[in-house]
Formats: sequence, C-alpha cells, structure tokens
Amino acid sequence: MKNFKTLVVVGLQWGDEGKGKVVHYLSRNADYIVRYQGGNNAGHTVVVNEKEYILHLVPAGILENKKCVIGNGVVIDPEALYNEINWLNSIGIKVSPKNLFISNHAHVILPYHRFLDAVREKTQNIGTTQKGIGPCYADKYARSGIRICDYLEKDTFLDLVNKNLDEKYPLIKEFISRDELLKKIINQHRLYSNFIKPFVVDTTDLLIKVITSGKKVIFESAQGTMLDVDFGSYPYVTSSNPIAGGIPIGTGLALKYVNKIVGIAKSYTTRVGEGPFPTEIKQQKLQEFLRTQGKEYGATTGRPRRCGWFDSVVVRYAIKINGIDELILTKLDCLKGIEPLKICIAYKYKSKLLYDFPVSRKLQHSVKPVYIKTGGFKENIRGITKYDQLPNNVKKYVQLIEKYCGIKINMISLGRDRNEIIFR
Ligand code: IMP
Repeated sequence: MKNFKTLVVVGLQWGDEGKGKVVHYLSRNADYIVRYQGGNNAGHTVVVNEKEYILHLVPAGILENKKCVIGNGVVIDPEALYNEINWLNSIGIKVSPKNLFISNHAHVILPYHRFLDAVREKTQNIGTTQKGIGPCYADKYARSGIRICDYLEKDTFLDLVNKNLDEKYPLIKEFISRDELLKKIINQHRLYSNFIKPFVVDTTDLLIKVITSGKKVIFESAQGTMLDVDFGSYPYVTSSNPIAGGIPIGTGLALKYVNKIVGIAKSYTTRVGEGPFPTEIKQQKLQEFLRTQGKEYGATTGRPRRCGWFDSVVVRYAIKINGIDELILTKLDCLKGIEPLKICIAYKYKSKLLYDFPVSRKLQHSVKPVYIKTGGFKENIRGITKYDQLPNNVKKYVQLIEKYCGIKINMISLGRDRNEIIFR
C-alpha cells in the first residue's frame, strides 16, 4: 500500500468504517491528504498513544504533520472550521496556511442552513446530524449558495445573505427573529472571514502541481458508499458523493489523476440515523453487546449506532460502485465473544433471492437477509500482527468475507491504536 501516486480511501458501508485510523496510518506514506466531500457531519476518530482525536473537517493526515486540503466539494461551516483549527493548535498540532489549504470554490454553511435542517427533519425523518449539510448542498444546486470566495468579499456576501434570508426566513421564523439571525451571521463573518482568508487558495491548481511533481496524495472520503446521494439507500443518505467518483467533481482534478482505490469495511455493519438496514441485529442484548465492544456511538452527535451483521450484498455493491482495488477490514477484535457469527450472503424478497442491493425503497425496507453461520472466537486478538497467528475461527471468518465479496483482504485492523494492524 506504499506503492501509489494517488490513493483513494472510501467507506463501503454506512460510514464509520474506521477510515480515520486507516487514513492516518497510510498518511505516513503520503505528502498530501485531501477531503473532497461532506462537511462537519463527519467524525474521524484517530487514536495515537491511547489518546483519542476526533476530526470533523480537517483531514486525519494533519496528525502526521502532512499537508491537508479541503476541496471544493466540501461544505464548510466557518465556525466549525475555526473551532477545529484552534483546538488542534491548542493541543500542539500546528495548523497554519502552510499545511492546510482550503478551496475558494467550497460552499459555506450558515446558521440558516442548520435551522432549515431542523425544519426538514420534522417531515423527512432522515436522522441527519443537524449540521446544515443537506440545506447547504441544496443551495449549491439551486444556485443560491455562498462560496468561500463570496464569503471573503464582504459586500457580495451581505447581498447574498439578504437574498437568501428573503427566501428562507419564512421557513425558519419559529427559531429566531430575522434581525437577530442577520446579526449573528454578520458577527460570525467578522470573527471568521479574516481568520479563514490566509488558508484559501485554488486547490485544484495546487493539487495538479503537487501530483505532477511526483508527490503522493491520499483522498479521504467522509461517510460511506451507502450514504452516497446517488448510489446509497436514498433518501436515507447524506447530500454528497462519498464514492470514489466524487473525487473529480469534489477536487477539480481530471479522472486521470485517480489511481488506486482502497475500500474500508467494518467486520460487521453499523448505521446512524434512520433508513433501511437489512442485517440489523434484532436481539437487544446482542445489539448492545456489539455496540459496547465496538464503542459504536456517533463521533459527531454521540448517538448510539445501530449494529448488524456483516452484509456482503452491501459490500459487493460498494466494491462495484467504487471500483475497489484492495479491501481493508476493520474492528475485527470487536466480534470477540459472539457465538455464532453470521454473514449475510444475499437477500430474499418474497421467494426471490437478490444478490444486488435493490434500488427500490420498498424493497430496501422489506428484503430479508440470508445468512451463513460460522464459529466465533473468545481469544483476545488485539496485538496480533501476523495473520497466521489468528485463531482458526477468525481466519475462517475473514476467508468467508473474501469469498462472498470476491476480493482479497490486504489489511486487517484489530484495535484502536494505529499499529494494531495485520498486513497480508
Ligand atoms: P447529514 O449528512 O447530516 O445530512 O445526515 C444524513 C445521514 O447521513 C444521516 O443518517 C446521518 O446519520 C448520516 N451521516 C452523516 N455523516 C455521517 C458520518 O460521518 N458517519 C455516519 N453517518 C453519517
């Protein structure tokens, strides 16, 4: 995994696959780490020497002193960015315009987006993170969005804010008066615009130069394939394209710059928020056991994640959509003590077997998983660094995943710390 010019790291389930740890680990071999979509709805957890760091906007490579880029496809809440940069600096991780570059094309999340998120949630019930992500992307496509370059021009910004408030204020008037909202936006702008300015560049130009000069780049996705707005479990998705196909649009880089694509799958499945989840574990005790072992609580919202069995229908589909070259399996240690282990190999709808994730929302909600069972393990596998030293049942589980996903697993993560990894 050292041998790449550009490497994409994508999640193959509903997010929270452990991308933070993997990107942090792989970033040792890279020069630049790039985010290309999402916003501060993401929560990338990285553990270094038992210390936990949760990053929302700044790529995980910052913890390795790598240069980091926030591409045009990301939506940026200036307040969240300001807080994250200040927090990183306060704990001794230096972030400055020398190692963080923000696209002038990226769209800005403003307080009215967060209110709109709350309003829409009442009728849609998606279980969003309430960070204003969906409304901000909606504005981008409705051509009423405000980009970072607009944010940095005060008169342009104020003009656009007033136009947006004319349109949106009637929808959110239950939360705040218009004057108060405008005052809040202007105050925030005063605090954050000068702060953000030195970080802002044409990140497309920068990345083309970086890649053509032979530097190594990792693209870090947020969320996961099943949350992709085009290919996920629509409408229970986020509002951007976490799949590898999101990179050209979310960075401005031409297709030819994307080389190797690595997929991350957790050894079981989780999702936060509402929506179909065919392999969700119904037994409350087992659900809680797995949630506790895997520390399955949202890194951004703290919500308990829904837990389920490994779903090879989902992962096969994600491998296809992303064109995955290599698979990384994470959190294998968290399955300790579960007997038996189950892997979903297909779905059943009425009497028909389905091997592909269905596009119909009716089917997504009504399919029944078809499982194979395999023996569990009781041994503590953390600290093992050689595949051959794993208990036989663990190896069998890994091999079954490989068989049903049709791809070799090259790296297995079995602990929170960065070095708890097996290479094959
Ligand atoms: P939004 O991205 O806040 O609009 O939320 C849409 C859906 O994506 C909800 O189900 C969220 O729980 C989910 N989601 C957003 N970001 C993440 C993430 O980083 N991990 C897991 N789920 C996420």
